[in-house]
Amino acid sequence: MKNVLLNNGRRIAYYTGDQMQDLPLVLLHGFCEDASTWKNMLPGLAALPVLRVDLPGFGGSDLPFAAGMDGYADAVCAVLNDLSIEHCVLVGHSMGGYAALEFAEKYPERLSGFGLFHSHPWADTPERRENRLRGIEMLQAGKRDLYVAQLFPGLFAADFAKKHPEIVDELIKDGRQQSAEGIISALEGMIGRKDHGETLRAAACPVLFLLGEEDPIIPAGEGLKAAVLPGMADVHVLPGIGHMGMFEAPEKSVEIVRQFWEFCARR
Ligand code: MLT
Repeated sequence: MKNVLLNNGRRIAYYTGDQMQDLPLVLLHGFCEDASTWKNMLPGLAALPVLRVDLPGFGGSDLPFAAGMDGYADAVCAVLNDLSIEHCVLVGHSMGGYAALEFAEKYPERLSGFGLFHSHPWADTPERRENRLRGIEMLQAGKRDLYVAQLFPGLFAADFAKKHPEIVDELIKDGRQQSAEGIISALEGMIGRKDHGETLRAAACPVLFLLGEEDPIIPAGEGLKAAVLPGMADVHVLPGIGHMGMFEAPEKSVEIVRQFWEFCARR
């Protein structure tokens, strides 16, 4: 079910199952995507209270006031408040993981667990920043469709992208529905995001790491370096998988996320 709340006059879209109870599994999408990115995992998660949010600037959510992971974390908090939900298990894919870390720093008392799904806590390298700045120039020059077309093929393990061009094409088509302003804001937000190593060290709840052995964006080694920081971590490296476990290995991803949620719910 789609819901829209107004936060300071801006719309935030979120999606719930029929029954929303305390401790929802909150899923945050990655860059240039929206809450529909989780669609292949939803049937397997049907028994859980799943709550998906369109981060500001994507899907049905308006642009944030200012770029940054901070605004994304506040949007998630506004949704939880709207639903009178005290605690959740928050899992973010890639950029959604950066937002989840920001949330964990700002609102630790709202978390019973959080997960980095192909994500890590490290700030951008200088090369990554340069790359993002080139992206912003392209988008400002009106080349949104071209930008999106070159983005998605590089997110999958090479074999998977070759065997499933229809999945890559669908993501490109959906990505072209996102506004250039929302994409630019996300790029600026990722450039400016801070290192969250300390947030992981301070985590009082379990932290999930789901990594892809062949992830070209978040190398598994970078994720593993972060996985030793929290007091309690659940760590998985999926063999042969790139950056898009929800498409490349939906069943395995469901099993890992479901078991993590169940563990957090039992504590
Ligand atoms: C994502 O999938 O959200 C992005 O690739 C993350 C990034 O560029 O760091």
